[in-house]
Amino acid sequence: MDAFTDIRLAGVSYAFGTQTVLNQIDLRIPAGTVVALLGPSGCGKSTLLRLLAGLTRPASGTITFGERLVADAGWAMPPEQRDIGMVFQDYALWPHMTVEQNVAFPLKMRRVPRAERDARVARALDRVGLSAFAGRKPAGLSGGQQQRVALARAIVAEPRVLLFDEPLSNLDSELRDALCRDMATLLRQLGITAVYVTHDRREAEILADCIVHLSAGRVDAVRSVTSSSGETA
Ligand SMILES: Nc1ncnc2c1ncn2[C@@H]1O[C@H](COP(=O)(O)OP(=O)(O)OP(=O)(O)O)[C@@H](O)[C@H]1O
Ligand SMILES: [Mg+2]
Repeated sequence: MDAFTDIRLAGVSYAFGTQTVLNQIDLRIPAGTVVALLGPSGCGKSTLLRLLAGLTRPASGTITFGERLVADAGWAMPPEQRDIGMVFQDYALWPHMTVEQNVAFPLKMRRVPRAERDARVARALDRVGLSAFAGRKPAGLSGGQQQRVALARAIVAEPRVLLFDEPLSNLDSELRDALCRDMATLLRQLGITAVYVTHDRREAEILADCIVHLSAGRVDAVRSVTSSSGETA
């Protein structure tokens, strides 16, 4: 596995037709930092995450992961080449596969040998507290459990970057809190660079080292969480 990586965006803009959605974003996320992207609905959080994932390409600017250029104007390295793990709001599990098969999928794609695959899947399920559910199908799990499966699938290939888009927003508040704290612990253990989109300030403060406020497609403010959790932007 490569070393963890920093993420740099320089002058990144994006438009849907004539509507500018991201306007000259400059941002550096140091290796191993968990950043929360916070901001009101429609401010461009998911668009920025999709650019980091390689699901879409910038109109201008560059995105680099470590030494690797992953996007510039009109060009994007495909997601599967970026060494990333992703967790979305709707879990996106394959219903016909068991928990174990869902989590094993990224390793199968990478042609990891069977024995190593089994060991890594077992380790990822253990990390998210789902070892006992390996043989179940997603339909037999609660929302919180399904999201833990998605989390295990995102980390099983030991990516360099983890990307989250409101992963807890479909869960009830009690569950959200518990899973949020578990994810915070897990991210610290992994020491991985992560970008976590949310519009929940509390979630951002629990999880992140640093909160980036987006407003109307621009970076409005950046603040460190540990040093000043009471400060407003
Ligand atoms: N497929 C699309 N076609 C046209 N406009 C779009 C499309 N997707 C998003 N937009 C617009 O781009 C802007 C940013 O959308 P984005 O999804 O990035 O916002 P967001 O910050 O993630 O919002 P939310 O908190 O509601 O998820 C919005 O104004 C939205 O209307
Ligand atoms: Mg969004």
